[in-house]
Amino acid sequence: MCGIIGYTGMRDCVPILLEGLKTLEYRGYDSAGITYAKDGVLHSVKAKGRLSILAERLTEPSVEGATSGIGHTRWATHGAPSDKNSHPHSTETLSLVHNGIIENYAQIGDRLSREGYVFLSDTDTERAAALLDFYYKEVKDPKKAIFRLCRDLRGSYAFGILFRSEPNTIYAIRRDSPLIVANTEDGCLISSDIPAILPYTRHYYRLSEGVLAVLSGKEIYFFNEEGESVSQTEEVVSWNVEEAKKGGYHHFMLKEIHEEPEALRKTVEPRIRDGFVDFSHELPDDTFLGSVKRLHIVACGTAMHAGLVGKSLIERYARLPVNVEIASEFRYRDPILEKDDLVVLISQSGETADTLAALRHAKSKGIRTLAIVNVIGSSVAREADDVLYTRAGPEIAVASTKAYSVQCSLLYLLALRLAKLRNTMTDGQIAELSDLLLHNVPELIERTLEQSEIVRRVASTIKDAEHIFYIGRDIDSSLCTEASLKLKEISYIHSEAYASGELKHGTISLVTDDVPVVALATVSKVCEKTVSGIREVKARGAYVVTVTTEALAKQYEIPSDEWLILPNADERILPFSATTVMQLLAYHVSALKGLDVDKPRNLAKSVTVE
Ligand code: AGP
Repeated sequence: MCGIIGYTGMRDCVPILLEGLKTLEYRGYDSAGITYAKDGVLHSVKAKGRLSILAERLTEPSVEGATSGIGHTRWATHGAPSDKNSHPHSTETLSLVHNGIIENYAQIGDRLSREGYVFLSDTDTERAAALLDFYYKEVKDPKKAIFRLCRDLRGSYAFGILFRSEPNTIYAIRRDSPLIVANTEDGCLISSDIPAILPYTRHYYRLSEGVLAVLSGKEIYFFNEEGESVSQTEEVVSWNVEEAKKGGYHHFMLKEIHEEPEALRKTVEPRIRDGFVDFSHELPDDTFLGSVKRLHIVACGTAMHAGLVGKSLIERYARLPVNVEIASEFRYRDPILEKDDLVVLISQSGETADTLAALRHAKSKGIRTLAIVNVIGSSVAREADDVLYTRAGPEIAVASTKAYSVQCSLLYLLALRLAKLRNTMTDGQIAELSDLLLHNVPELIERTLEQSEIVRRVASTIKDAEHIFYIGRDIDSSLCTEASLKLKEISYIHSEAYASGELKHGTISLVTDDVPVVALATVSKVCEKTVSGIREVKARGAYVVTVTTEALAKQYEIPSDEWLILPNADERILPFSATTVMQLLAYHVSALKGLDVDKPRNLAKSVTVE
């Protein structure tokens, strides 16, 4: 949550900061602000709302010639979006941007009020800035003051700081919130994420926790708490700036759905060797998987929904019990963990605070952890005992699409590898499924994408609904949970997902005339039962959209008002196609309603706060 950018060097900083904030807007976008140094003086400009409002307030020529500054795009945690709550927060001696949550901000505020500090905002950040100001006045040394501040803080932070006494030097430090620093030909940068630095350099340092970076404009220096110089490992970005751009699509979400075939190829291909799943590149010895007695899949939101699909697959193919847990619950409810358990963390960003905390909880109990992560080198990836990377490439739209599809494919591979190690399938069966994943799934998604216009037409029939239900059985019910989340997060239509047999135990009372019910029917063994569910809702006036194949529709005489027909394919890979159709449906509903598809209200791409 929240995006931080900073530049100090030889160029005008404001265009660089604005461009960086635009790239980081996916992390939060309810307000934004910049502090820039000009002629040795710090100036702050802040604005509630989108970045364009801030840009309008930063009128030249006043910003011309300013060569160092820090910027912030906010996802509100403490205090409503407003000018006064926007970052940077400034004091007599400094200006500061923050990503994270300071848990003991109230105590800090009380303490400083007694020292005469007056607060203008409702934020935790302003209290942290004031405490730094207090220490700086006492020790007169930015480094010492920052480390004293950090010792006093509870919670998470990534800070970018400018002191009025050294307006061309940026100080940066972090705990539990991401921050990278980079050196370019003409200046130094800090950023919450890689895409914002890509126009200038592919080389960067992922700042270690507790290490202070001091950016002079020409050099970056790193210090530990003792004030000693330390080194950080330079990393190089393997993808390019084009991959993070819209590439002709109206929205990142649509572009990213269209990237699914390629993302699936990249995720599956390197892991199939001689017809079998092979993790030896990443897990030199994965035989420990064979002795695991129980899996706990822990994640949030869409990643957790991928976990539900994984549960179906792993239990079906490897006959291994799987619990799927919401990370924010797992960390606090003292789950029963035993020595032969494996905790699998799934995360696109690898920075989700709850998932990271769940990982740390499992490790503190001595339980082995395996991360399935998209962002290379992210916190979850680095801290887990083992990691399997999904290869979706950068995902910018807040609504996760291709990341979910590749998470499901990786869980499919995991299920097959476990099945091999546990002897629950024959080699022939495993090879057949591996081949389907490798050769048929990407092509199936390509055929599915050709139906985008049909999906758009169907979307137009449900876009004005107030409530929409998704029903399905078996793995379809797991797909429904994700389909429903996708719809509600970007279209603001209230939606719920139900295992279709469960609807009649209460929720069917909400199904009245013309309420849309989207029925997923891709599993032949329960198709008859799904048909019963459809009949029940139709009898109450529902407008039913069925997602199935032509063959299943005919064979089971599915009654429906509207159809989303999936391409013919082996039933075991149909969930991939159904997923893409559901993502397109949510996309088109949102786009037809004229909403901000990529940046839905109240959300952020990377949830780095609890
Ligand atoms: C889904 O579209 C969301 N953006 C959200 O549920 C997301 O999947 C969740 O916050 C987890 O994020 P992660 O995969 O980066 O950990």
